[in-house]
Amino acid sequence: MSEDKALTGKEVETLHEKYVMQPWALQGKKVLPVQKAEGIYFWDYDGKKYADMSSLLVCTNLGHSNTAITEAMKKQMESMCFMAPAYATESKSKLAKLLVEAAGADTYSRVFFCNGGADSNENAIKMARMVTGRTKIFSAYLSYHGATLGAGNASGDWRRFAAEIGGANGFVHFMNPHMYQDGYTRGVDDEACTAYFLKALDKQMHFEGTDHIAAVIMESIVGANGVILPPAGYMEGVRKLCDKYGILMICDEVMAGFCRTGKMFAWQNFDMKPDMITFAKGVTCGYVPLGGVIVNNKVADYFKDHVLQCGLTYSGHTLACAAGVAAVTYYEDHHICEHVKKMETVLSTFLNKMAAMHACVGEARCIGLFSALEIVKDKEKRIPMTAYGVKSPIMPAIMAELKKRGFSTFGRENNINICPPLSITEEELKEYLPILDDVLTWVDATYIK
Ligand SMILES: Cc1ncc(COP(=O)(O)O)c(C=O)c1O
Repeated sequence: MSEDKALTGKEVETLHEKYVMQPWALQGKKVLPVQKAEGIYFWDYDGKKYADMSSLLVCTNLGHSNTAITEAMKKQMESMCFMAPAYATESKSKLAKLLVEAAGADTYSRVFFCNGGADSNENAIKMARMVTGRTKIFSAYLSYHGATLGAGNASGDWRRFAAEIGGANGFVHFMNPHMYQDGYTRGVDDEACTAYFLKALDKQMHFEGTDHIAAVIMESIVGANGVILPPAGYMEGVRKLCDKYGILMICDEVMAGFCRTGKMFAWQNFDMKPDMITFAKGVTCGYVPLGGVIVNNKVADYFKDHVLQCGLTYSGHTLACAAGVAAVTYYEDHHICEHVKKMETVLSTFLNKMAAMHACVGEARCIGLFSALEIVKDKEKRIPMTAYGVKSPIMPAIMAELKKRGFSTFGRENNINICPPLSITEEELKEYLPILDDVLTWVDATYIK
């Protein structure tokens, strides 16, 4: 086989199954070969079209093949693909400024660039330990922060177990609120729920030794574990506990950032500011890997007379930063946050209707174009369709039914995530959401006795 000859779909599939190590899967598993992608769609080799209703892994925020980003990349490639971190480049300098300004230049002052989400969290954790001289890192059980050793140990869901073999030291998990699963009613019980979980966290901090804790790392809005919206006052309360004990607060914006919730960063939905903001995915819409940490003045100032002991070959990668400049400029110039807020109304109205109509939908949660349906087998008792961490064929079967009908998304545990590209139009949303309704009708008939 000549290496530059285009392959057929079957050949792509066969080589993948034989040679590629597939993440989070048994090896040799069947994988759909994809040929092209544009706008909110991608196509397989048989020409079948799929609407990308999850922005892949919640990263293609501006859809596929956005020309503002691809043209900026082409232009950058023609002059210089890569320059080492020790040098200043136009794309890196511009992107750092754009990000600091988007976060708030009164509070934030510098950006450390890396390659993706996990290493952005790794570097934020290292910085927190350097700045505070403390070791322990608090993170929530209902969370995912990446699969590398430190980020894997910080993650709360079961994907941390492999990273815990041999482990990394100082990681402590706390229980964060999930109003629906914990039996609370949103809009009614927020105060009680917030008070309960903050009291428990405060107590746990004391048992761990408040002056041993370097940072609390949290997703501003928990994403992959089911778009779990915190009760009112919770994030502000965590911030207050951090302030009280001299603990740094890191908000992981890898999934929720870049207009996903209708704000540039999801923490901007709350009345608090983290010390560090980690980002990836939407910064380049995934077109090239890029991640990083935006730090506030306090953290930045520490490293004026202490060497920043963090580094990587591709820190501030020239091509990736050019894609980042184009994407962040596009979010701003095209008022993507305003558009997301308008589309939120369409999406949340539809999802609430699904929760009212279908026996299998316990709750709909939606902020911006970040949403999930909680799938249950008993709505009255709020019993999830499958028990936590138990491998069940039901959720994969639901995803397969959606995909068969051209609706591509992902679901974890008992959630169906609906997080389409932020550039989606009202017409496109209205064309594809009825597929979800059909599949939920199928779930009611198949799994609810
Ligand atoms: C909130 C959050 N943090 C970190 C990560 C890890 O990012 P990456 O896969 O780029 O390492 C993810 C990935 O989905 C994520 O959702």
